[in-house]
Amino acid sequence: MHLLIPAAGSGKRMGSSQNKLLLNVLGQPLLSWTVKAALASQSIEWIGILGQPYDFPAFEALLAPLHSPKPVQLITGGETRQQSVFNGMQALPQQAKFVLIHDGARCLATPDLFDRCTEALQHCQGLIAAMPVKDTIKIVNADGWITDTPDRQNLWGAQTPQGFDVALLKACHEKGKQEGWEVTDDAALLEKCGQSVKIVPGEDTNLKITTPVDLAIAEFILGQRLAKSA
Ligand code: C5P
Repeated sequence: MHLLIPAAGSGKRMGSSQNKLLLNVLGQPLLSWTVKAALASQSIEWIGILGQPYDFPAFEALLAPLHSPKPVQLITGGETRQQSVFNGMQALPQQAKFVLIHDGARCLATPDLFDRCTEALQHCQGLIAAMPVKDTIKIVNADGWITDTPDRQNLWGAQTPQGFDVALLKACHEKGKQEGWEVTDDAALLEKCGQSVKIVPGEDTNLKITTPVDLAIAEFILGQRLAKSA
């Protein structure tokens, strides 16, 4: 399985002037933890990391001590996550038939989750890891008034990995570019193209590290895992 890791964002919502994926988590850059999980996955055989070129020296520095036995390629990302993944799709090796896409910011995903997504992709053309939402979700208008409360039973929180047939995702990205669609995950492009996307049970701990609180939670969870494996 080929894996693309979008890692070309900034640290704006984290309140950081650098890429949040380079922030320290238990003594290592956040992105190291994400890459280590991918390296430990049995099914991943090639990794492409999307980044801004000014971050490449830092990416190379964090990759060196991991001594990856799998090819890891740095690919120039874009202005948005969607553009970064678009670039990644163009850079996939020709033989790639299926691809997993996993946000660099989700450093708590386990190797097992990658492998379950790979397995599930044998039976469909598009999937995402997701979890049922715990909160009641409100639709709110620009003035701050609630306009709707969707039935919670049908609501799932989208995570990554998201997995796709390469030719199909490329076609949906092309269409999205032509139509000017702006989406925050890849499944949304398939949905807009009328393609079906399946849910794979994600993980409660598979947080997208976005704010300083998430960073503290990540340190706690990774610390517990390290203590258990010691
Ligand atoms: O900002 P957010 O956390 O939602 O971004 C999700 C993922 O997409 C992150 O891992 C981030 O590094 C990546 N990203 C990207 N290119 C961008 C913006 C975000 O690869 N231009």
